[in-house]
Amino acid sequence: MGRTSRQPTGIFITLEGGEGSGKTTQARRLCERLTAHGLDVLQTREPGGTLLAERLRSLLLDQTVETIAPETEAYLIFAARRQHVDHVIKPALARGMTVVCDRFSDSTMAYQGYGRGLDLRALRTMNDWATGKLAPHLTLLFDVPVAVGLSRRRGGTTTQNRLDRETERFHRKVRAGFGALARKELRRIMMIDSSQPLESVAQTVEALVMNWLKTYRARTSRRR
Ligand SMILES: Nc1ncnc2c1ncn2[C@@H]1O[C@H](COP(=O)(O)OP(=O)(O)OP(=O)(O)O)[C@@H](O)[C@H]1O
Ligand SMILES: [Mg+2]
Repeated sequence: MGRTSRQPTGIFITLEGGEGSGKTTQARRLCERLTAHGLDVLQTREPGGTLLAERLRSLLLDQTVETIAPETEAYLIFAARRQHVDHVIKPALARGMTVVCDRFSDSTMAYQGYGRGLDLRALRTMNDWATGKLAPHLTLLFDVPVAVGLSRRRGGTTTQNRLDRETERFHRKVRAGFGALARKELRRIMMIDSSQPLESVAQTVEALVMNWLKTYRARTSRRR
């Protein structure tokens, strides 16, 4: 290996989208498929992934907690993210693992930025600070009409959380925010029509990720 050869580093994939869009279901399925293809996979989620970050998650989702200012909410999310990046994501990537994360920075831009109306540039700066500018290689954005997503959540086994009490208007702003982010980063963010049946979404995800991996590997091996 020459001095110019790059450190072996893993692949970072995030799953994004509104409530009930199928992120958690598809994250599990995708990890199974990637493992079957021989990859060393780590499945994780945000907010969460470490002891402290999971505690912050509980506070963020708790319906009985005092009113949380949008800024406070953002700070708690960034605090959780830093722990997650330092203790879980970066070490796994350094070991060459494929990290699949259920929500990450795009959720902050969509919910706290487009949804709550916090300044997007300020959020971007704070997010860079929290992540040390670690960004996903690939992001799958699960897009579903707000009413469909919310009714799926109500129909499922998940317990209701603080965000379920938000208005439909809030969730529509979040969805539009995700759409705007995807249009700005066409190479990284792939939008998937998540109103399709679960099996067909899973097949789309697998085909898309496998195809992306092929291109990514061809690109990185040329650079070596
Ligand atoms: N394509 C689909 N068609 C119908 N139902 C689905 C589909 N995808 C997921 N579901 C169901 O919708 C519910 C929510 O799915 P899931 O928990 O994966 O969404 P999520 O995006 O992780 O939601 P949250 O934002 O609340 O974490 C579950 O009961 C799941 O089985
Ligand atoms: Mg989920």
